[in-house]
Amino acid sequence: MKILMVCLGNICRSPLAEGILKHKVTDAGLSWQVESAGTNSYHTGEPPHHLSQKVAQLNGINICEQRARRFKTSDLDEYDILYAMSNDVIEEMKRIAGNKWQDKKVKLIMDELYPSQQLDVPDPWYGPEPGYHDVYKMIEAACEKIMQQLPIKN
Ligand code: 4NP
Repeated sequence: MKILMVCLGNICRSPLAEGILKHKVTDAGLSWQVESAGTNSYHTGEPPHHLSQKVAQLNGINICEQRARRFKTSDLDEYDILYAMSNDVIEEMKRIAGNKWQDKKVKLIMDELYPSQQLDVPDPWYGPEPGYHDVYKMIEAACEKIMQQLPIKN
């Protein structure tokens, strides 16, 4: 199983999603591959935002080794499921992929908890620290649901 978490910058939300799901996958003894990417390249090569790193660390998860990269069309072939953090991210992924778009592989991460409600994980980038804690809780709950729902495959 290969899963890609996708947001805009790949420095706030999707690095948390990668770290949280990887942690759960390791705890479960599975060998799924979990990675993350962003639809823009403004932060390519950078580590996660310091507040994402801090919130992860407070929850026992180390994400400081991650480096941002841009989502590319071939990721749609490479991964089994791609979780977008928000609706605008899906729109950007569609724009990048053009006629190579694969609708069935891409899901809003919050749809795992609230199917068809089209809920976004809000972008904490412009706000203060509490926003990062809120985002962590949302993503953690969604990842827990992912673990419960996905078929156990290596
Ligand atoms: P993220 O947050 O998508 O959760 O990583 C953002 C970080 C940076 C930018 C946008 C969103 N930016 O445009 O620089």
